[in-house]
Amino acid sequence: MNEKILNEVKSSFEQRFGVEPIVIKAPGRINLIGEHTDYNNGFVLPAAVDQAIYLAVAKSGSSESTLVSLDMDQTYEFSINDFQPTKEKPWANYLMGVVAEIQKSGREVSGFNIVFSGDVPQGSGMSSSAALECGTCFALNELFELSIPKVEMVKMSQKAEHNYSGVMCGIMDQFASMMGSADHALLLDCESLEYRHFPIELTDHIIVLCNSNVSHNLADSEYNIRRKQCEEGVSLLQKYFPGVKSLRDVSLEQLNAHQSELSDVVYKRCKYVIEENERVMSMTKAMEAGEIDSLGEILTIAQEGMRSEYEISCPEIDFMADFANNREDVVGARMMGGGFGGCTINLVNKGSEDQFISELSAAYKEQFNKEITPIKVVISDGVKRI
Ligand code: GLA
Repeated sequence: MNEKILNEVKSSFEQRFGVEPIVIKAPGRINLIGEHTDYNNGFVLPAAVDQAIYLAVAKSGSSESTLVSLDMDQTYEFSINDFQPTKEKPWANYLMGVVAEIQKSGREVSGFNIVFSGDVPQGSGMSSSAALECGTCFALNELFELSIPKVEMVKMSQKAEHNYSGVMCGIMDQFASMMGSADHALLLDCESLEYRHFPIELTDHIIVLCNSNVSHNLADSEYNIRRKQCEEGVSLLQKYFPGVKSLRDVSLEQLNAHQSELSDVVYKRCKYVIEENERVMSMTKAMEAGEIDSLGEILTIAQEGMRSEYEISCPEIDFMADFANNREDVVGARMMGGGFGGCTINLVNKGSEDQFISELSAAYKEQFNKEITPIKVVISDGVKRI
């Protein structure tokens, strides 16, 4: 818990609006394995972390609403009866998008004020936007006593991102932020939304994120392109295998049988997704069996798949992942999240983490003249009122 940010958010709200707010903590997430599988109806293994967005919120007493981002030092005002996405302050879309989804579901909200801030680095692949959406949805649910079931809030938060930010994201980030549980990852089936809390008991290892501090603005457009390429693969394969609804239903043999009818790019994308789904299953088995070497191998192969098949890595990330994967004290490493920058996730021998971080930082600085921001991960609960 970041008490400093929590207190700042609360006191700033009280100063500005003169009433006591309710406060919500909405976490970011890591993902152990299963990248770009969620919108292909596959499997993912994410977890909520301690880095979070803190939101202070109260009713405004009218139809007017004020959103205050302390980190951006910006304010956005809108009427609950008449609003639309904004180009000037895109961060406000995450919150208004949620309001729009709540209204679409037939529930009523009146005006409200929100002040928020957080320590989930933006553009880092840790899902600061999902945290903001889920935090807003949870806050409004509390404030207006809407009794929205949690999974419905997850779906509303995802739709907010589709409809107000134009990123056709899957459901993983919102699911992890809302449903996470301390010391557990979520093994989620993105088709049925069935999930299992999967204990993460690392006695001899630690999860370290290394933020490359690279965030490409092509990430959003390339994301939607990847999604379309997967759909293209599915629609060809459906002609031969009518039972196929998504890449989750396709085996590598089925894909290979029709490779010549797919463009090289679409084939590579589909192959990556099918294999990444298999990696989620192999990873859970290896974790249950305590087979640490297999975990490392899976992470390393996943990184190679993202680099050469899904083509969502970048030179900085390749450098960081290769550096880690060539060390004795790192079990395995790969890029995490949507791609084109952000963090690597590293499974490191306990006791070696500081040396690993300092040597990687020095090498990265020398190569790219940029800094790395390390985060030692603490797996935490999902969104809650505090
Ligand atoms: C982003 C999206 C998620 C997921 C990941 C990649 O974080 O929001 O839905 O697709 O990328 O695994």
